[in-house]
Amino acid sequence: MQLPIVLDGSEKATLQNQIFDQIRSMIIRGQLKIGDPLPATRELSSQTGVSRNTAVLAYERLIAEGYVQTRPYVGTYVAATAPHTKYPSAVRCDFDSSEADRRSIVDESNDDHAAPPRIHSLVNRRRRRLIADFWVGRSDPNSFPLKAWSQLIWNRLKTAGAALTEYNDPAGLPELRQAIADHLGPARGVIAEPDQVVIVGGCQDGFNLLARLLVRPGSPAVVESPCYQGAAYVLESFGAQLYPVPVDHEGLDVAKLPQVEGAVAYVTPSHQYPTGVTLSLRRRIALLSWATEHGAYVVEDDYDSDFRFVGSPFTALKGLDRGERVIYMGTFSKCMGPGLRLGYVVLPRRLVDGANRLKTLMNNGQGWLEQAAMADFMASGGFGRHLRRIRQLYHSRRDALLAAMEKHFGACEVLGDQGGMHLAWRLPEGFPKASDVEARALDAGVGVYALAAGAAIHFGPDDESDRFLVLGFAALTEREIEAGVARLASALQGDRRPRDITAAMRSKQEAL
Ligand SMILES: Cc1ncc(COP(=O)(O)O)c(C=O)c1O
Repeated sequence: MQLPIVLDGSEKATLQNQIFDQIRSMIIRGQLKIGDPLPATRELSSQTGVSRNTAVLAYERLIAEGYVQTRPYVGTYVAATAPHTKYPSAVRCDFDSSEADRRSIVDESNDDHAAPPRIHSLVNRRRRRLIADFWVGRSDPNSFPLKAWSQLIWNRLKTAGAALTEYNDPAGLPELRQAIADHLGPARGVIAEPDQVVIVGGCQDGFNLLARLLVRPGSPAVVESPCYQGAAYVLESFGAQLYPVPVDHEGLDVAKLPQVEGAVAYVTPSHQYPTGVTLSLRRRIALLSWATEHGAYVVEDDYDSDFRFVGSPFTALKGLDRGERVIYMGTFSKCMGPGLRLGYVVLPRRLVDGANRLKTLMNNGQGWLEQAAMADFMASGGFGRHLRRIRQLYHSRRDALLAAMEKHFGACEVLGDQGGMHLAWRLPEGFPKASDVEARALDAGVGVYALAAGAAIHFGPDDESDRFLVLGFAALTEREIEAGVARLASALQGDRRPRDITAAMRSKQEAL
């Protein structure tokens, strides 16, 4: 059989990615159905003129993401888990919230919803000087592309004219919105027009914009458990009724989604915060079906998906979103630096006008100069080169952290090490609680963090959540990583070493 695949050698996307994207689209659009055979890689390579290896790699990615499967000696077929099969495209948009158990993180005695009581452990707190601080979510300050950036800023200043001093489009600079739309297609499988992109001051600003748009006092909000504090606190501060849904080795446990109407669901499918697990394709489809059936919006926080070290990155949830239920959120905080305060939200078309009006109301848009420099950086290809460079750097640092943990603690059970800028370590039986390890490490000059201190909220029992440490590795050199882990090991000397965990358990992402 032949598939209508057309490859363009002048496109930015590699031939392998073009094949992947086109087959994936045929599956999502229903042109290829469950059980339909795909041509053999040899056939595809002679049809399209690519090498056999390119065709094999494209198929491997389709298999890894669950779109197709192989039957030994028979061939490659559209998998039973492929999206179009179960995911209805009907849209409902009612916001009629219903009563349910209130699982709030608000201290009941505290009626100040603008300032939740546990706000102290958000990501930007100041820390004392440490030998090695494995604080989560920090990019490497030395990797900021300073030379290119100063040149871009200076070029823009020279030609700024009135743009520097006038009000600009509150939804963001058109060139930047265009550059983001161009980037998201090949990088994340998200197809959007520039007018669906709103530039925000990082995800945190985006959470506020979306909460203001979608949340009313008492309206239901699904959050992951454990969950990123920055998002949960904002939802809570707008009076949302929180429905924590547990996360296991496949990500959000969709079977436990509440049967309520008109919810907002905040999720981190690529690299769950804090556990680092990836939401499986099967569950992505179920989550989208749930959103469609219940008129919910899913906020996909794709904060650190630029960094994937094992296999290809999963297509974003938004890339599967035929019913326009997903709001995609990206940030430059991880790939450039949080000091920029620059991020973006990609909206379903029906939310665009409302979001633009709110953005005007809230702050009339982000600063012009840095948006302009970022747009130029992306359009010139500098951003792509920068991403490739730091992806490699963070990969080496992750390897250094895993190696140091193994050297000093034996085989460890690690979650979320396939990508991102941090991993989670489930402490073995016989080890002190994570909060005790955190305290002893700090005394020894090392920062490692239990979930609550690591910008996460766990809604389950404390003794369960206090078994995890989160360790950020992106901002530390390999030498600092080794020194920090060595120091941690000597601070904990005397405690049982986790030698009884088998090597096979590492990275296996067992249920939390
Ligand atoms: C899950 C998650 N989302 C978003 C962010 C970043 O937000 P911002 O873009 O506001 O810097 C972080 C920061 O660590 C995070 O951990």
